[in-house]
Amino acid sequence: MNVLKQLRDQFESALNSYTDDAPQFAAMIKPAGDPKFGDYQANCAMPLGKQVGKNPRELAAELVASVDLDELCEPLEVAGPGFINLKLRDEWLETAVNNLVNDERLGVEPVAQPRNFIVDYSAPNVAKPMHVGHLRSTVIGAALYRILCSLGHNVVGDNHIGDWGTQFGMIIYGYKHFLDQSAYEEAPVLELSRLYRLVNQLSDYHAAATQLPQLRETLAEREATLTAAQQDADPKDKKAKKAVKQLTNQVVGLQDKIKVAESKIATVGGDATLKALADADPQIATAARNETAKLHAGDAENRALWDQFIPLCLEALQSVYDRIEIHFDKSLGESFYQPMLADVVADLQAKGIARESEAAICAFVEGFDAPFIVRKTDGAFTYATTDLATVKYRIEELKADSIIYVVDARQGEHFKLLFETVRKWGYDQTELQHVSFGTILGDDRRPFKTRSGDTVGLESLLDESIAKAYTIVSDNDDAKPNGAELDEPERRRIAEIVGLGGIKYADLHHNRDSDYVFNWDKMLATTGDTATYIQYAFARVCGILRRAEVDRESLRQSGAVIRLSHESERLLILSLLRFPEALTQAAAEYRPNYLTEYLFKTAGVFSGFFEHCPVVNAETDDLRNSRLLLCDLTARVIAQGLELLGIHTSERM
Ligand code: ARG
Repeated sequence: MNVLKQLRDQFESALNSYTDDAPQFAAMIKPAGDPKFGDYQANCAMPLGKQVGKNPRELAAELVASVDLDELCEPLEVAGPGFINLKLRDEWLETAVNNLVNDERLGVEPVAQPRNFIVDYSAPNVAKPMHVGHLRSTVIGAALYRILCSLGHNVVGDNHIGDWGTQFGMIIYGYKHFLDQSAYEEAPVLELSRLYRLVNQLSDYHAAATQLPQLRETLAEREATLTAAQQDADPKDKKAKKAVKQLTNQVVGLQDKIKVAESKIATVGGDATLKALADADPQIATAARNETAKLHAGDAENRALWDQFIPLCLEALQSVYDRIEIHFDKSLGESFYQPMLADVVADLQAKGIARESEAAICAFVEGFDAPFIVRKTDGAFTYATTDLATVKYRIEELKADSIIYVVDARQGEHFKLLFETVRKWGYDQTELQHVSFGTILGDDRRPFKTRSGDTVGLESLLDESIAKAYTIVSDNDDAKPNGAELDEPERRRIAEIVGLGGIKYADLHHNRDSDYVFNWDKMLATTGDTATYIQYAFARVCGILRRAEVDRESLRQSGAVIRLSHESERLLILSLLRFPEALTQAAAEYRPNYLTEYLFKTAGVFSGFFEHCPVVNAETDDLRNSRLLLCDLTARVIAQGLELLGIHTSERM
């Protein structure tokens, strides 16, 4: 049962007699920011009053008179210019919370109209090391997958693995020229990623060396323009100020590019072996591209190598997924769609959506400078072509009503072009959504990397998190007033739960649009908005239940009831009843952070309750049982909420 939805539904019926946009105005009912104003607040009378030319206070009074909320709420109050304050009745709260005691779904009802969702998440490029960006996609996507399932939707999780990209040209080239046979036999994927990095490094070296003089020249030119502009600038002239700012940004951008190029040159130049390899092969980038082209054209040797590499790479990926317990219903990688690409392009051309332009085939979308290239000059199909074929397949074969792409914000432009092209193509009934997320940054505010300069390898990141969590768990256990409780295997088990939970929670609780700085201390802290804090809250609740020596299942079956006797209990009950609200909101906006926020607040509200309301030593047996039931419910809500986010709990910590 979703309280907010009930309130909104009631208001919607009342609003219907004033406007055609009733749902939009009903959506303005929100949880009250300050409990002084009740539990919820409806702010729709002001904008609606404006729209229909009515005094908002009068309108608010009319709405109050016509909604039927007597059972749910205390008499509604109109305040200020026309705010409507809603306070839930204590008796209603009691009944509602008692209904949860034996409800396995904790009040979460399946939606009336389930939709077919495809969630496209993780999607690493195989044979390149998987990095934190793919981890963020994996973690957010898996959470959305579970949340949508919990609301009764039909969801297919699909891992659109990059298994056909240009990296294979580099690996194949590396394999043919630089293979260390014994290393390959021992750890094939490690050797393949070494080869990938090596070929990449050598190509980058040549590219940087070619670009550097031009970059330096442009920089000198911009710097001169900037100096001149600064000298001339009249401090009052806004336009001139803006121009100076723009120039400054360009100069900084160029300086950055030069730094990057210089460091690429230095890495290879400073290593005699690498330098010799680079000098021996100035055309390596072209050669690697040719290997990709040969693979795509069906060359037998390259195809055989691809067939040899793919299972190895997939196995390595699977071991990461196993560790973080990620599941996919399908893993239809880019290669799966290759046989369909020629038809896609032909169809787009036949329908006049794509046409030839400078020897490539492009779809043009109004409002975009760049075209959507579906076949390159050299005849190769692109990432875009594959995504078009994928959409078609998902709609026609998998019957998708909704496709959500959990992908880095830097691909925003690609998805805008994709979605527009797809609509023009005729698939305009399907919801297409880019669930975009920001970059994970290091302390230097650049994309997070390890000291060696590699994008952080995932496995080592997970190991490090668990190791740090182990210290936290052990310190905490050692400091317990009654002495340490946990044995070594138990500490290790909990460290795993805390370490993995911490990493996942960091990806989830930030507003996904924003970049965030990766910080171990913040991520694993026992206080503040972290998984650790919520996990400890859970363990504390379980500790109370343990001390009371109750069997939780029997307590639920015993006929004992929850009674509201204190304001802190009221807050906790209200919080527990809002679990479905949090899930609905997270699903509606594809934002798991609504769920993390909810769990964090609920854990806080529980502390308030525990501070004010003795549980084990409550004055009467009824009160004790009532509060124990509240503890039991809190534990279940927290555990279930965290599970949906892919985070485990431990009853002892
Ligand atoms: N493999 C891509 C990358 O790592 C992400 C793919 C996302 N999904 C999609 N359908 N384009 O950048």
